[in-house]
Amino acid sequence: MTKIASLEIDGKKYELPIVEGTEGELAIDIKSLRATTGGVTTIDPGYKNTGSCLSAITFLDGEKGILRYRGYSIEELAQKADFLEVAYLLIFGELPDNTQMAKFHDDIKAQSHVDEDIKKILDGFPKSAHPMGVLSSLTNALIAFNPSSVNVDSEEEMYQAIVRILGKFPVLTAWAYRKRSGLALDYGDDNLGYVDNFLKMMFKKPSGEYVSNPIIVDALDKLLILHGDHEQNCSTSTVRIVGSSHAGLFASVSAGINALWGPLHGGANQAVIEMLEAIKEDGGDTKKYMAKAKDKNDPFRLMGFGHRVYKNFDPRAKIIKVAANEVLNELGIDDPILEIARDLEKEALEDPYFVDRKLYPNVDFYSGIIYRALGIPTEMFTAMFALGRLPGWIAQWKEMRLRKEPIGRPRQIYIGENYRDFKEINDR
Ligand code: SDX
Repeated sequence: MTKIASLEIDGKKYELPIVEGTEGELAIDIKSLRATTGGVTTIDPGYKNTGSCLSAITFLDGEKGILRYRGYSIEELAQKADFLEVAYLLIFGELPDNTQMAKFHDDIKAQSHVDEDIKKILDGFPKSAHPMGVLSSLTNALIAFNPSSVNVDSEEEMYQAIVRILGKFPVLTAWAYRKRSGLALDYGDDNLGYVDNFLKMMFKKPSGEYVSNPIIVDALDKLLILHGDHEQNCSTSTVRIVGSSHAGLFASVSAGINALWGPLHGGANQAVIEMLEAIKEDGGDTKKYMAKAKDKNDPFRLMGFGHRVYKNFDPRAKIIKVAANEVLNELGIDDPILEIARDLEKEALEDPYFVDRKLYPNVDFYSGIIYRALGIPTEMFTAMFALGRLPGWIAQWKEMRLRKEPIGRPRQIYIGENYRDFKEINDR
């Protein structure tokens, strides 16, 4: 029995159907609103109350701190699966069996070469270029070397585009780091796993051998899983709306990278570490930064805190916080900013300003501490977020195209000048 919402405008009543999701979420279906009301639409800056699509990929419950990919809990996936397995799950909807997993990995490896001419584009960047700007540019440049746009109605073509970007993206990410570090580019090793190979491309010294460290591989694998997808966040919504114009997968992902770069979104992991280091330089004065975060006249925000959807602990932050401790212990690292992070979290969780606004640590609060321990420099943190989020962007782009969703084109309410005659310049 379809639930109905009733609306009354200027004494006239309208009825709108209610959509119910498989987890009991309800939404008023306003597809026919403008037509049936003669032009009335809705307004919702930041889409805080507005759903953009029906999706079967990720479910999250912000009040209960639940996150699931295709029905599997993030806690179980982080514990029992590896990143490429989770990428397969997000994109194709089911966990792969051994044969599917082996084929997926082989097909990705077969696509992990990047045209040598891409290096000429990379050479054009100054060493100081931020890796996210380099990564979005090189991802876009891949179109020139893989011109065939994806015929989404062909399952094989779609699969080839997916393994192509999954194969090349880690290379571009590692090259962005090597360029900034003044290191010769590395091509990876087909005998290594996906995450291990990425670490080799990042850290192999030109003159030395790359030796895998299972602690580092496992920690990064877990971090990438935790970043895999997060329903309609800013960058994923960007990928979907760019893809809705039938721009290709690479172009849509490049747009998503730029959206993720912002410090209010994926750029927060870099901003958290910069904030913690500033507090450390300031003698560990967390109270001063708490006061700044609460001061409405101060634009400073407590980076890594708060979330559009989670009004409880971000389940990813819980897992990462435990992992941060484990990784630092296993690697024998004593990082003073971990202590500062813990103090800040404790203070915030007891402070009425944060408690009243339900501001809890999010995925970005502790992830930077692990990246640092793994030897990944701060300016690469958001690129690591992009590497983890890539399967989610692919899955969401694929779902939007296969469902043949219309081009995204929101309405607006005009609040500018009413009609006025043109004035000659001498009369102004
Ligand atoms: C990610 O959407 C996703 O799923 C994103 C993500 C993903 O996986 O894709 O989870 C990844 O982007 C995590 C968020 C990373 N960003 C940060 O850590 C930056 C710091 N956080 C904030 O800027 C903020 O919390 C947002 C942007 C995350 C959420 O902002 P909202 O939902 O638009 O909330 P808001 O800005 O309207 O804030 C509500 C109130 C305001 O105070 P009042 O006007 O009510 O008095 O809370 C305050 C805000 O000033 N507030 C903060 C704060 N976050 C919100 N005050 C101080 N420090 C903060 N961090």
